[in-house]
Amino acid sequence: MDLTYSTYLHLDRLLALQEPRSRPPEHDEMLFIVVHQAYELWFKQILHELDSVRAPFRQDSVDERSIGTAVARLQRVVAIQKLLIDQLRVLETMTPLDFLDFRDFLVPASGFQSLQFRLIENKLGLRPDTGGQADPAAPEGRLTPAARDAFQASRKEPSLFALVEKWLERTPFLESPGYQFWESYESAVDAMLASDRRTIETNPTLSPTERAVQLAELELTEKGFAAVLDEATHERLRTEGRRRLSFRATQAALLIHLYRDQPILHLPFLFLTTLVDIDEHLATWRYRHALMVHRMIGAKIGTGGSSGHHYLLGTVERNKIFTDLYNLSTFLISRSALPTLPPEVERRLGFYYPRE
Ligand code: HEM
Repeated sequence: MDLTYSTYLHLDRLLALQEPRSRPPEHDEMLFIVVHQAYELWFKQILHELDSVRAPFRQDSVDERSIGTAVARLQRVVAIQKLLIDQLRVLETMTPLDFLDFRDFLVPASGFQSLQFRLIENKLGLRPDTGGQADPAAPEGRLTPAARDAFQASRKEPSLFALVEKWLERTPFLESPGYQFWESYESAVDAMLASDRRTIETNPTLSPTERAVQLAELELTEKGFAAVLDEATHERLRTEGRRRLSFRATQAALLIHLYRDQPILHLPFLFLTTLVDIDEHLATWRYRHALMVHRMIGAKIGTGGSSGHHYLLGTVERNKIFTDLYNLSTFLISRSALPTLPPEVERRLGFYYPRE
């Protein structure tokens, strides 16, 4: 048989897969099914991208070219996520009353049971102790036995978070002969905080109360910096679950952010930024979905048995994956306060073309 548009895409099978269950048939159930199926197709594409991005990071050293490809593919994931957030608007053309007309026909099925959604979370690196644990109906328990096996297997693979952490730990630029990034960063932070203190103490326009308030705020900033500068404090925060990224990986991520104008660090910077983009779009989808659910079913429990809107809202903050990368902004210092790199280090971070 000749290859045609239809046979290449298996449209006969694909278009036979929409089977509304309502009797008599309710008009909007078709929309509900098509939207969910479209989501699952896009989830499939996201998993395809995430698997390909993780592959080179499993090696001991990552070829620089793989970072460029990783950035391009992760930016594709972000483009898909934007589409997925927007797709909720199509579903919202269905009114809550229209939904009620067929909701009972799909109980106890629920988005809770979307294996691909859980795989995306796991492959990105959702902490095992966050996914739905605050709710009695933890998502894993809602999966079929076969899906649960795939879910467990995905937890055993190194997640993108874990692979990125290892890659950051291997960053070669943290120390060179005669240069320690951390020492130079620490002295720049000390100088910046001392200058802030002087400004507050000598500012003639401040009343004693205003000065005291500003000094108290500065002390909080100093404590914040102490937490990133001191390894023991960092490790304590990690055991308390308030930090996740290792100390060395955090140092490397900071170096990349602070010196991102150096040619060799630009792509790694873009890579880390795209990871935050993905996390932010996932959180945005969670929030938009929670709002839609509130509007659609009010305070009712979900068909999967969770508290519904309330449970979903809780996942927005709790299920962020790259929180440590967001938090890096706390520890940035302005370009003007940044120590200049020794010429030898700057040479290592640049691209140089031999002249004829
Ligand atoms: C009328 C539209 C929708 C309603 C009323 C709705 C309702 C809910 C509710 C109440 C939950 C919490 C679990 C439960 O108790 O069932 C949930 C979870 C979920 N829904 Fe929806 N949903 C809708 C549309 C969608 C769409 C279009 C998708 C796209 C795939 C989706 C994907 C999910 C996912 C992945 C979860 C699990 C979230 C998590 O545990 O973090 N839902 N949904």
